[in-house]
Amino acid sequence: MKSILGNLSPQKFLSEYWQKKPCLIRRALANYEPPLDGDDLAGLACEEMAESRLVTGRFVDRDWQVRYGPFDEEDFATLPETHWTLLVQDVEKHYPPLQELMELFDFLPSWRLDDLMISYAVPGGSVGPHVDQYDVFLLQTQGDRLWQIARTFNPAVLKDCPINVLVDFEAEQEWVLKPGDMLYLPPNVAHHGVAVDAGMTWSIGLRAPSAADLLVALGEELAEQADGGPRYADPGLLPPRRSGQIDEQALARMRGLISTLVNDRDSFNHFAGKFISRFRLAHDPVSPGPGHDQESLMHAIRSGSKLFRNPWTRLAWVAKGDGAMLFAAGDEVECSLHMAESVCQSTQPDLLSATLDERDLTAVIQLLNGGHLVLAKD
Ligand code: SIN
Ligand code: CO
Repeated sequence: MKSILGNLSPQKFLSEYWQKKPCLIRRALANYEPPLDGDDLAGLACEEMAESRLVTGRFVDRDWQVRYGPFDEEDFATLPETHWTLLVQDVEKHYPPLQELMELFDFLPSWRLDDLMISYAVPGGSVGPHVDQYDVFLLQTQGDRLWQIARTFNPAVLKDCPINVLVDFEAEQEWVLKPGDMLYLPPNVAHHGVAVDAGMTWSIGLRAPSAADLLVALGEELAEQADGGPRYADPGLLPPRRSGQIDEQALARMRGLISTLVNDRDSFNHFAGKFISRFRLAHDPVSPGPGHDQESLMHAIRSGSKLFRNPWTRLAWVAKGDGAMLFAAGDEVECSLHMAESVCQSTQPDLLSATLDERDLTAVIQLLNGGHLVLAKD
């Protein structure tokens, strides 16, 4: 597949549009035949593992209603002809071949990608004008949808409404997206998509932790590391000058107590990898069967099995010494740079054609036993 950015180079997209302004790319994925349709999506929305929503309502009436899956056939059989939208999250994990589509976004760090959410809407279907905190690529894969956007808007949202919908919305720009067209929106741009005819918009969503997310998690991690460690101490204490005051020296001692921990580079890198590989993780990867060792791994390979990445895991790594600390949904293994890059890059990492050294072999076995890699025949 060619670049999804049309005539824009990744460099130009990143410098001119990324996190700055919306970008419409006509025929980003021309002639793409989506491997699933509205019926498949409805089928998926009936499964326990799938996170799905059915939204009905229209902006003129402010009458939004939302129901959450899993649904059953009856739910879909009784829907009206117009004004509803079915949304399902994490579809690329339920349909692993769709991970190829996510690879078209490799001009961004892979750990920034969140999921593929698919919305199937009938004419008039919409989830209302709203604002998201994350970047999103809206790829039209079937039918036409009118997308309206506004960069300046009143942020007030409807009260007593089950979904986040703006009270007022006036479009500054609008386009009808046709199959293959894609609209990139940075965070905080109000948008409203209304189906012209039945069809699908695929949202490739990004994720970015807030400072508050990082601080809460960092605090927990550091508190665990510091457990049993130093406590506030004040040798050389002078008599207090004013009753009740926490004086400058006391404040400096407290800052000193935590700053050594916060500023330690290795422990921060470790925290960051562990945190990012768990952030907005849909489910923990399904735990594996019997534990693998070198012998059982080699036996499986000799009988034709290959290594695949579990679509439910999240991988990211940081450099450490001459190798990498690789994080997989909160677990960590040490491995070579080559191995770290290969498992992050490909859904079917080719790790076993080269002779693995002891460290990488151990890492592969740990990832298999953690459920992050799976052995299967293709
Ligand atoms: C939709 O597909 O209708 C909603 C997607 C979005 O607004 O982010
Ligand atoms: Co949105």
